[in-house]
Amino acid sequence: MYLERLAVINFRNYKQLDVKFNKGINYLVGKNGVGKTNLLEAIYYLSNLESFRSNEDKNLINEFKGQFRLESIVDGIDYRLTIANGFKELQIDGIEYKKYREYLGNVNVIEFIPMQVYLFKDSPKDRRKFIDKELSKIDKEYLEKLLVYNKLIKQRNELLKTSDTYKEKLFEVIDEKLAELQTYVIAKRKEFLSELEKNVKEINNEFEITLKYNSFIQDVTKENILKKYKEVYPKDKEKMVTSIGVHRDDFTMYINNIEIANYASQGEQRYCVLLLKLALAKLIKEKINKDPIIILDDVFSELDETRKEKVYEILKEYEQVFISGCQNESLDMSVYNVENEKVKLVKEELK
Ligand SMILES: Nc1ncnc2c1ncn2[C@@H]1O[C@H](COP(=O)(O)OP(=O)(O)OP(=O)(O)O)[C@@H](O)[C@H]1O
Ligand SMILES: [Mg+2]
Repeated sequence: MYLERLAVINFRNYKQLDVKFNKGINYLVGKNGVGKTNLLEAIYYLSNLESFRSNEDKNLINEFKGQFRLESIVDGIDYRLTIANGFKELQIDGIEYKKYREYLGNVNVIEFIPMQVYLFKDSPKDRRKFIDKELSKIDKEYLEKLLVYNKLIKQRNELLKTSDTYKEKLFEVIDEKLAELQTYVIAKRKEFLSELEKNVKEINNEFEITLKYNSFIQDVTKENILKKYKEVYPKDKEKMVTSIGVHRDDFTMYINNIEIANYASQGEQRYCVLLLKLALAKLIKEKINKDPIIILDDVFSELDETRKEKVYEILKEYEQVFISGCQNESLDMSVYNVENEKVKLVKEELK
């Protein structure tokens, strides 16, 4: 995919900005706090309708007042968003989209942001979010089933709080449906991780990376899940919460068979998460037959020269990439200076 034009109005530190970008690798360079990450955030927002660093739209509005607008041309298609606190107006080629779900998935962006270095140190929730978000993009059926699952878990938790014995029968119905959905969700998640693992192997031969899905259930069948749910029922009833299920599952990354969180240095963890993201980009590319736009915030700062070169070679395979950084780099890229709320092309990529 190719983001040709980006206009931002009243977004973060930008009152008004209108930029044209090149295909290939675009490098945004400038001092701390000039608004490089803000630009990547705008591109991310176009794809995800949320930011990667704040869960409130309000924080994205210039000086937190009024509304912000994003306008862009991606692959010749016109995307326009107007966002106020608690309100989003979405347009594609002049047609209004009332449902976020119909808008999402049109512009595909894969991001790497410094915060994600801690993916394998953070709580399982972040890792589940990683799988669920990315898998939902390439598989709508997965998204639908996951939404039903989450709704049912909520209902089950409500039910656990009541003491009406006549409602006990409902557990059977809910658990049956939950078990069925979970066999599907686990199979999809495992398949997704094994595809990612395969892609990581293709782009990295420096060390062996493996991904392992950790579930509450080993031998995944509907019957086994139902059995487990029966087993934990007294405990669940007492705690008034569903203690097992795919909403509690997790995955781990191993480097040469050692769990990454207990072993790798900061730079290595950063590199491994980056490899995972690049493997994901490759997977999306295979699935949707289009290159996702890749945005990398401050990616070079902790990479040694050899790995920097390696990452650069991988990125060259994509239609369009955005990288931010504070220092001039000697790699061949289109370079944009970011300063005083302006973005100026100062060097074209040679190719
Ligand atoms: N809602 C907002 N309204 C106005 N300005 C904002 C808003 N939110 C953030 N900013 C400004 O944006 C700046 C941060 O921009 P950004 O994170 O893009 O910097 P950066 O160029 O990526 O810097 P670094 O090199 O440190 O990563 C903050 O210093 C702040 O002044
Ligand atoms: Mg930044």
